[in-house]
Amino acid sequence: MSQRLKLEVKALNAVEGQDLVILVSDKLTLAAAAESLAGESAQALLTRAAAAERFKGKAYAGLTLPSPQGAPYERLIVVGIGADADRADLDFVKLGGAVAGRLGAGRSAEVLLALPKGEIAPAQAADLALGLKLRAYVFDRYKTKSKEKDEAEPLAVTLKAADPSALKKALKAADAVAAGVVLARNLVNEPPNVLYPEEFADRAAKLKKLDVEIEILDEADLKKIGMRALLGVGQGSRRESRVVVMRWNGGKAGEQPVAFVGKGVTFDTGGISLKPGAGMEDMKGDMAGAACVTGLMHALAARKAKVNAVGVIGLVENMPDGNAQRPGDIVTSLSGQTIEIINTDAEGRLVLADALWYTQERFKPRFMINLATLTGAILVALGQENAGLFSNNDELAERLGAAGRATGETVWRMPLGKAYDKMIDSKFADMKNSAGRHAGSITAAQFLQRHVNDTPWAHLDIAGTGMAASNSEINRSWGPGWGVRLLDRLVAEHYEG
Ligand code: BES
Ligand code: MN
Ligand code: ZN
Repeated sequence: MSQRLKLEVKALNAVEGQDLVILVSDKLTLAAAAESLAGESAQALLTRAAAAERFKGKAYAGLTLPSPQGAPYERLIVVGIGADADRADLDFVKLGGAVAGRLGAGRSAEVLLALPKGEIAPAQAADLALGLKLRAYVFDRYKTKSKEKDEAEPLAVTLKAADPSALKKALKAADAVAAGVVLARNLVNEPPNVLYPEEFADRAAKLKKLDVEIEILDEADLKKIGMRALLGVGQGSRRESRVVVMRWNGGKAGEQPVAFVGKGVTFDTGGISLKPGAGMEDMKGDMAGAACVTGLMHALAARKAKVNAVGVIGLVENMPDGNAQRPGDIVTSLSGQTIEIINTDAEGRLVLADALWYTQERFKPRFMINLATLTGAILVALGQENAGLFSNNDELAERLGAAGRATGETVWRMPLGKAYDKMIDSKFADMKNSAGRHAGSITAAQFLQRHVNDTPWAHLDIAGTGMAASNSEINRSWGPGWGVRLLDRLVAEHYEG
């Protein structure tokens, strides 16, 4: 339903689609292969049109032309890749997005991977394919009136390569990652009456098909284990809370896993500390951390990553009710520490406290990374451009930074420290769940750090990046599926094999 792209790979020969897409550098020279397919007059046509439109082959810019006289396609689409000297900085995922955007839905097109000098490498072409897929995504499950859209053919793209077999291999991994991002986007976009904790757990359980081991812990299990901080958040909801444990065992038997933990508040009203009404509908996205973890597990399993990975998601709904948690309540978390509830809207840290403690104690992971739409304050600090990164481990933090720069899902490191930690000391309990407005994202992170023991750990505050996304070349949907590519990259670079 939301995958709107059919993708094939074929050798260079005739053009069979409606559109022919050609990549050109700032020299605007067609490749020999392009000249033979585009028709003799294509270069002249391009040179003339480029001058008229001031098109200079700048990266991601494009030009749409009618095909040259007698050519067997409708449109010649030229997309820039900039100067040869800048090629190393070219983002092929973004380029794929630009190509898909220029083509539009319901078209069929051939994309020539040939360049004046050589051809785009398989890994880069795979990135381009990933960008095509991500740009073609739409979430229109609940549109009944856009019939034309539903019945429209998906965008059909054929990548034309000199050696299709090398490319097909590279495309498999890109497919897996694209499917993981799409899953995360779907979960974030779903409305909260449809996607409540049990339903989320059922969707995660579908990963069994990819040989991911799934355990669903229900409220009786959680009580027995002692996850009272998490259960306190869900106690005002008619929907039962759940914790889902996902395990992908693609690494050596007995090797310590890497672990990912997600905040999955399927709707956050604030609870008794009720949020203001304006914009509250956005709080359906307060499970973006859990969505990312689920999408990542999908990606790792689908591409058969050589790693042991654990995903743990805490799923609750935060509602006001006669049975809801109150400000002033004191709960004992799984770690044995007591928490004074100051503000029932600071619920994400309560969910994660138990999920993090559980994960480190049970799995003894090599590292633990949690993702959470945790604080409005991180939006004030970083906007939607960077996720906030907090870590007790410099190596992990640096690796995340590098993976962010490589994928465009960038993170910015924020401080942790004793003075901030003191701010969450409580008059009545071991700690309090809110320390007020000052350094709001940092004190939230300090709270989490009190629940990770000495495990190498990183916390990504994705309140800015994980939902309500603005349009980009690779995403037009409210839920961007942020973090799946970042963490897949981190695992691929450092923790496989
Ligand atoms: N889910 C919110 C944070 C949030 C805000 C996510 C905006 C996405 C966009 C979180 O549960 C929350 O309410 N945090 C409070 C914490 C405060 C009460 C200490 C906040 O940020 O105001
Ligand atoms: Mn909240
Ligand atoms: Zn929340």
